[in-house]
Amino acid sequence: MKKIVLGLSLTAAALFAADGAAVYSKCVACHGKDGQNTAISGVALSGDAASIEKKLNGYKDGSFGGAKKAMMVGQVASLSADDIKAVSAHIAGLK
Ligand code: HEC
Repeated sequence: MKKIVLGLSLTAAALFAADGAAVYSKCVACHGKDGQNTAISGVALSGDAASIEKKLNGYKDGSFGGAKKAMMVGQVASLSADDIKAVSAHIAGLK
């Protein structure tokens, strides 16, 4: 039984690690593979995971955003808290 539980938690950890990249694949069109494409967004993605997470949650709850925030609100609406955490860590590690 212990082995099964351990196996499951390792699988969950592996899925979590993979999630950020999977979530970010939906963001590439506007932000570029490295997060530095500013043609559409007007802003390069930067900062540590915590600050990116804060901005993404801000788009979700309406407490953050610039002139083009409507484009981002739609992007984060369907993301879970775990998705946001994972993609924030992924973005922070892009550069
Ligand atoms: C349809 C184009 C589009 C897609 C797809 C998109 N974004 Fe954005 N993103 C934008 C625009 C436009 C802004 C600037 C919005 C504003 O004015 O606040 C932005 C801003 C951001 C910011 C804030 C940058 C800053 O420092 O101000 C983050 C973080 C971000 N996007 C992450 C993501 C993530 C993560 C995804 C995928 C889940 C994503 N974006 C998908 C267009 C997009």
